Amino acid sequence: MGVEVVVEGLTKSFGRQVIWEDVTLTLPAGEISVLLGPSGTGKSVFLKSLVGLLRPERGHIWIDGHDLANCSENKLYELRRLFGVLFQDGALFGSLNLYDNVAFPLREHTRRSETEIRRIVMEKMDLVGLVGAEGKLPGEISGGMRKRAGLARALVLDPEIILFDEPDSGLDPVRTAYLNQLIVNLNAETEATFLIVTHDINTARTVPDGIGLLFRRELIMFGPREMLLSSDEPVVRQFLNARRHGPIGMSEEKDVSELEAEAQLGHDPGVLPPIPPQLMPSENRMRRTQRPPGAWLAANGVIPPPNSFVDERGRNWLEEYPRLVAARARGEG
Ligand SMILES: Nc1ncnc2c1ncn2[C@@H]1O[C@H](COP(=O)(O)OP(=O)(O)OP(=O)(O)O)[C@@H](O)[C@H]1O
Ligand SMILES: [Mg+2]
Repeated sequence: MGVEVVVEGLTKSFGRQVIWEDVTLTLPAGEISVLLGPSGTGKSVFLKSLVGLLRPERGHIWIDGHDLANCSENKLYELRRLFGVLFQDGALFGSLNLYDNVAFPLREHTRRSETEIRRIVMEKMDLVGLVGAEGKLPGEISGGMRKRAGLARALVLDPEIILFDEPDSGLDPVRTAYLNQLIVNLNAETEATFLIVTHDINTARTVPDGIGLLFRRELIMFGPREMLLSSDEPVVRQFLNARRHGPIGMSEEKDVSELEAEAQLGHDPGVLPPIPPQLMPSENRMRRTQRPPGAWLAANGVIPPPNSFVDERGRNWLEEYPRLVAARARGEG
């Protein structure tokens, strides 16, 4: 079961440029969280800080009782082995074939025999649907395959925490849908703690248990999906519903005059779209950390927008979910 990551008052600057300040959040063990934010708000910097590739100036990152933001280099090296990272560009070695790329962390960090390495590499290649492509070079395969190879490599050391930096960027909608299903299945199987940075609103709305939003050097909100998907907070609302109207402008932030002009025209945030059902793992699996649809809303007395939790086949997941849970507990469905 994955580990909890507790971030407290984290602040990161480069020279005099403050990237974000006082970021506090908890990635619950085994849950899938998504981090959103306009381009340049420091999402990748946040992921790199979590793995200790960048050192924040202030704050703490607690993992298993250790503060990754303030520990020795030796401890950091040890803690880093808890992480698997899928970098924004896949970060494969161009001159190595996929097999050697995926085997790399095992050869670098373990003393396993080539026979064991072969077993692990092929198992992960199978998991991401790349069996048969081991001999190919990164330059010879599609962007989607490169992402999946990067994912296989992030998995070989059986990480407790997996960070994904835009796993879906540059993928067509169908490949993104497959990748999202793969991520959800992977979470069911590994029970690791996931953090996904994405610009894909559909991914953000359907995959995670929790969502966070970085904007103007701070974490605006972080919490259960139903809290953000029903939120009236203008930035959250604009971002999660991909609207033009709101505080976020073309150059990251709208200036005061633009916002005043908008206010004079009358600010109409429109109605909130329905909350979609969360993506379920396929093949008879369950995710231990998944909450029933509507649970957060009911506990907090929030009424969801009309037609929430209805899928594209017209099934209402407020009714469908308990049925599916029961069926899967019996080993069916
Ligand atoms: N090593 C570094 N040295 C100096 N500045 C950096 C460094 N890495 C990132 N930055 C700056 O930090 C800011 C945030 O960058 P980051 O890559 O984290 O953005 P992002 O939110 O991931 O954007 P995108 O959505 O486009 O990937 C940028 O202004 C960038 O120039
Ligand atoms: Mg980035």
